[in-house]
Amino acid sequence: MEKLYIVGNWKMNHNISSLTNFHNTINESKSISKNCHAWIAPQFIHISKLLELNKENNLLKIGAQNCSVENKGAFTGDISPESLNDIGTDFVILGHSERREIFKESDELLNQKTKNALNYFNKIIFCVGETLDQRESEKTNEIIQSQIVEGLKGLDSEDLKNKIIIAYEPVWAIGTGKTATPEQANEVHQYIQKVLNEHFQIPENSIPVLYGGSVKPSNAHDLLNQEFIDGALVGGASLIAEDFLKLCEIAHGINADRS
Ligand code: PGA
Repeated sequence: MEKLYIVGNWKMNHNISSLTNFHNTINESKSISKNCHAWIAPQFIHISKLLELNKENNLLKIGAQNCSVENKGAFTGDISPESLNDIGTDFVILGHSERREIFKESDELLNQKTKNALNYFNKIIFCVGETLDQRESEKTNEIIQSQIVEGLKGLDSEDLKNKIIIAYEPVWAIGTGKTATPEQANEVHQYIQKVLNEHFQIPENSIPVLYGGSVKPSNAHDLLNQEFIDGALVGGASLIAEDFLKLCEIAHGINADRS
C-alpha cells in the first residue's frame, strides 16, 4: 500500500523564528519521511527558508498554497508557478475553499491554473468540498462532481495519475472543530474515485484522496483508517511540530498494520 500523506497547510501563519523551531523539532525525529509522506505548505515568503532548512536531511516536501495562472509579466502581487519551480518548490495546493470563497476563484480559473501548474510542480493538491447548506440540501455529490469535472477538464489521464492528488475538505469542517465522521468522509472519498473513473477513465484508487477539515491527533486514526482515505490535509494542527509528528506517527502505524 502507498504511504499515507500528512500535508500541513500553514495558511498565513508562522514567522522565521517559529518555523525554524518547528523544523528543529522535526529534525530531531529523523524517521518521519520514511513513515509517511510528510509535506508542508508555508507562506510563499517562507518557502525558501524552509527549503534551506530541509536541505540537510530532506525530511519534508515543501509546497505552495496557491500560485498565479500566469507565468510572467505585469501581474502585480501575483506569484509565478515558474518562479516557484525555480526555487525548488515541490507541490502546490489549488482550489482551497478559502481561495474559492474569499478570493472568488472559479472552476474555470482553477482549471487554467491546474493545467499550467502541471508544467512546474511534481504534484498538485486539488481541493474540493461542499458548504453546510449544500450538504444539508443533499447536494454534496453534485458539487463534488462538478468541482472535479470542471477543475480537471482537459487533463490527460497520465498527468492525472502522476501529478494530481485530490483533497476533500468539507467547508463546514475547516477551522471549525467540526469534523466529518470517518464514515461520512469515506463515503465522499469513494464517490470521488467513482467520478475520476467515470469521467476520466482513471482506475479506482490510482489517485490519492486526502481528507481535510479539523484533523488533529485525537481524530486522525479513525479518519486515516478508512478504506478510501489516503491521508490528511491539515491546517491548525500542522502548526505545532509535536502534533504534526504525532499525525505522521499515526499514519505510519496504519501503514504498518495494513502491510
Ligand atoms: P483545519 O484546516 O485543519 O484547520 O480545519 C484544513 C485546511 O483548511 O486545509
